[in-house]
Amino acid sequence: MLYSEKVMDHFQHPRNVGKIEDADGVGEVGNAKCGDIMKMYLKIDEDQTITDCKFNTFGCGSAIATSSMATELIKGKKVSEALELSNRAVVEALDGLPAQKIHCSVLAEEAVKAAVKDYYDRNGIDYDPEVFGQVASCEHCNH
Ligand code: FES
Repeated sequence: MLYSEKVMDHFQHPRNVGKIEDADGVGEVGNAKCGDIMKMYLKIDEDQTITDCKFNTFGCGSAIATSSMATELIKGKKVSEALELSNRAVVEALDGLPAQKIHCSVLAEEAVKAAVKDYYDRNGIDYDPEVFGQVASCEHCNH
């Protein structure tokens, strides 16, 4: 079977789909490789803990599954921990993706980072721009 049971489960029953009206950080990103887009909403408390997150995507099944898993992995975590979430970690949590679909998982990582960046910008919190630069130079998205 091409897709793991976990991928199929998150694709057919995605967690945290939707929108948060009064989100503290919103990130919208597009996948350079396929043109799919994703929007991520974060609710963040004063301790910088992500208390809620939701996503919407015009993306393929793998993008839906990876975003669903990504929201599950960052919920309840500190924003600093969410920033460390790599697309690789999400793919591992899903028991893998076919090689040609790995680029889809980058969308989830980018959307989380973009939403955290928005939160930092809105609150005047200093950050190292390098953290956000890494995503742009992803090996899958650069060609
Ligand atoms: Fe575009 Fe998967 S084909 S995100």
